[in-house]
Amino acid sequence: MKKHIKNNVYWVGKVDWDLRRFHGEELTTHHGSTYNSYLIKEEKNVLIDTVWMPFAEEFVENLRKEIDLNKIDYIIANHGEVDHSGALPELMKHIPDTPIYCTANGVKSLKGQYHQDWNFHVVKTGDKLEIGNGKELIFVEMSMLHWPDSMAAYLTKDNILFSNDAFGQHYATEKLFNNEVDQCVLFNEAMKYYANILNPFNPILRKKLDEVLSLGLTIDIIATSHGVIWKDKPMQIVDKYAQWAKDYQENQITIIYDTMWNGTKKLAEKIAEGIELADPDVVVKVFNLRKSDENDIITEVFKSKTVVIGSPTMGNSILHAVAGFINLMKALKFKNKKAAAFGCYGWSGESTKVLNELLSNAGFQIIDEGFKNQWNPNEEQQLSAVEYGKKIARA
Ligand code: FEO
Repeated sequence: MKKHIKNNVYWVGKVDWDLRRFHGEELTTHHGSTYNSYLIKEEKNVLIDTVWMPFAEEFVENLRKEIDLNKIDYIIANHGEVDHSGALPELMKHIPDTPIYCTANGVKSLKGQYHQDWNFHVVKTGDKLEIGNGKELIFVEMSMLHWPDSMAAYLTKDNILFSNDAFGQHYATEKLFNNEVDQCVLFNEAMKYYANILNPFNPILRKKLDEVLSLGLTIDIIATSHGVIWKDKPMQIVDKYAQWAKDYQENQITIIYDTMWNGTKKLAEKIAEGIELADPDVVVKVFNLRKSDENDIITEVFKSKTVVIGSPTMGNSILHAVAGFINLMKALKFKNKKAAAFGCYGWSGESTKVLNELLSNAGFQIIDEGFKNQWNPNEEQQLSAVEYGKKIARA
């Protein structure tokens, strides 16, 4: 059912309480998500984005209860990814000639996915669409935030920025606005979203934030495409993004490992003890990769100034979960972070060298050659691991 946002603007999206994995199996969504679609009913009726494909029929059925579909004058496709464009094929069966406003790359992604020659209207930053009653939609290209086709639309007079993925969170709720939900969950999900999706685009985001702020637009509401709408002090999330985009870090060191017979696990715990002894102000956290959620660990990496990665040696290399996780960190292009390696071995002992090579290749500044330990660490070796933790804390 539609929900009222402001004046003649309504939410007509879908709350997905069940969603636990997104982007295939790549991203965990412990709190579900929403696919936010918006209906503006001025002299012209405008639909902004749709919902994910599995909800297409439900979406169109609900939408036609709110408006005669033939009375939709314009569709704005801010982003072609299937979670926002997925109901277009179903909708366009009913209104095939309705103009779709999107970026040039939006045409490519929509045609590439749905193989339809819809009535596309390409827009660029600064282009305007009059929708009556003196109101306009102004388009702002948001290329690489997070797809080349992404854009935002600003509704004048109501001062609403329809930001699409930017400023979103995977957070299912019947509430519409940011001040109506658990603030801890909200900001944790917003940070997880940023760390796991937007972090690679930090340099672009810094420029885009400056560009949007320099337009001097009054922004009363930021209507995202996932989660709650920022209505209470909406610039607070813009301020967060400005901080996060500057290769964010807190005073945190995170230890991440996989283990076979618990030797590397023991090293992880002893290194954590050493970090705490050397610097009681630093937050130290330890994660066994196989027992923790990788996307949650990525949020911890995002907050960290240093990551310490452990794997025993296996097959002259490292355990594959650790290799996969370093690859994930590489893809997310973390900058301004240090790294160190550790691990147990029985025979050849290459893991720390392999870890350092991979971490260096992933953009981390390597602290030293790492801490390697033959066989299970005895008491003396455990004390050495504590000393290594102290060294990491001081690095
Ligand atoms: Fe929410 Fe990039 O799609």
